[in-house]
Amino acid sequence: MSDPAPARAGIDIGRIRDQFPSLAETDDGRPRMYFDNPAGTQVPQIVADRMADCLLYRSANIGGYFRTSDLAGEVADAARSAMVDFLNAPSADEIIFGQNMTSLTLHFARSIGKQFRPGDEIVLSRMDHDANVEPWKLMARDFDLKVRYLSFDTNTFEFDLGELDSLLNDKTRLVCVGGASNLTGTINDVKSICAKARAAGAWSFIDAVQSAPHIVSDVQDFGCDFFVSSAYKFFGPHQGILWGRRDVLEQLQPYKVRPAPDTLPWCFETGTQSHEGMAGTAAAVDYFAWIGTEMAGAKGSRREAICGALDLLFEYERELADRLVRGLMDIDGVRVLGITDEAAMSRRVPTVSFVHDRHRPSHIAKALAERNIFAWSGHNYALELARALDIEKSGGGVRIGPVHYNTLDEIDVLIDALQQILG
Ligand SMILES: Cc1ncc(COP(=O)(O)O)c(C=O)c1O
Repeated sequence: MSDPAPARAGIDIGRIRDQFPSLAETDDGRPRMYFDNPAGTQVPQIVADRMADCLLYRSANIGGYFRTSDLAGEVADAARSAMVDFLNAPSADEIIFGQNMTSLTLHFARSIGKQFRPGDEIVLSRMDHDANVEPWKLMARDFDLKVRYLSFDTNTFEFDLGELDSLLNDKTRLVCVGGASNLTGTINDVKSICAKARAAGAWSFIDAVQSAPHIVSDVQDFGCDFFVSSAYKFFGPHQGILWGRRDVLEQLQPYKVRPAPDTLPWCFETGTQSHEGMAGTAAAVDYFAWIGTEMAGAKGSRREAICGALDLLFEYERELADRLVRGLMDIDGVRVLGITDEAAMSRRVPTVSFVHDRHRPSHIAKALAERNIFAWSGHNYALELARALDIEKSGGGVRIGPVHYNTLDEIDVLIDALQQILG
């Protein structure tokens, strides 16, 4: 493949790709094409360097009297302050680290559930990854709560917020939705959903795992109460991060061991954390800030640089998504499971899933893998969604998930490959 050329003013794709050593890897002389990004992105050098530095020179538990303990503490503080900037959080002690989004959600579900009374109601979505569904169903079982489901339009792949109005009532305590779908790619109107939840007296819990790599996260603007993401989806290491609104966190009873601190944020961080994961998470945030400064012309704070980067990258990703969607729609027998309308492309991330009328998704993903093109097939844990679209039994869909380090050339190679496989 030829050297990737800058696809639009501002973004220097060559320079971006140079940050990711794995993008240059080949297998038997064949380049790798990473379209498996919604399941986990590749990592820039800065992330690996900061993690190695943490492991090699800052390895100690936090809270001691000695040098390495101080250094480990600095790593944790720097990671919290990076996440404050990434999320526009009001303060660092509302940032809680944990193993991953699923573990944090299961952990918080116990504390949150204790606030509710039998007969209280929660609203879950049919569009979400199961990590934002099943933990709440288990909570509802344990605390005798009623679950209501927000469906989505299987033609437009979007929620009807009028339906949400009809689900909310004076018993609703919690509304759980995703920032963006890991299967259809739909970006949800989180701000309106959180406003409706709050007006009904309910908390909102946002699964931002699939939106955080693509759009600006702003917990204050969104008006949510909880916001969870996973750094390995935004170019960092395997590390979960939960933000909670202070006055809500302070109402919860943390599940913790006795010697652990009673104060935020440590009371919710069970056991010893992955300091190297925190170091890598901060580095991933700094990677965005680097793009903002170098390519988006950002001159102010790290937050401004992050926002500049994400806005710039979103425009580029929209081009990738557009080329991908149009290419897929030109292939006989393909049905795209997500927004395709050109006028609505800004309401989706570039994650595009599809089915074919003759070939099973797993067959297509295997055939792509034989060409060194990496993609996932199946329901990708979006169980409710796969059932709503009636694709669960037929093997789900094929998910093509470009991010900003992918190129238009790669999309063209992928579409050619699919034409051969499905022709
Ligand atoms: C939308 C969404 N939510 C939650 C998760 C689970 O994240 P984690 O692996 O950090 O538990 C995923 C993982 O793919 C996801 O895509």
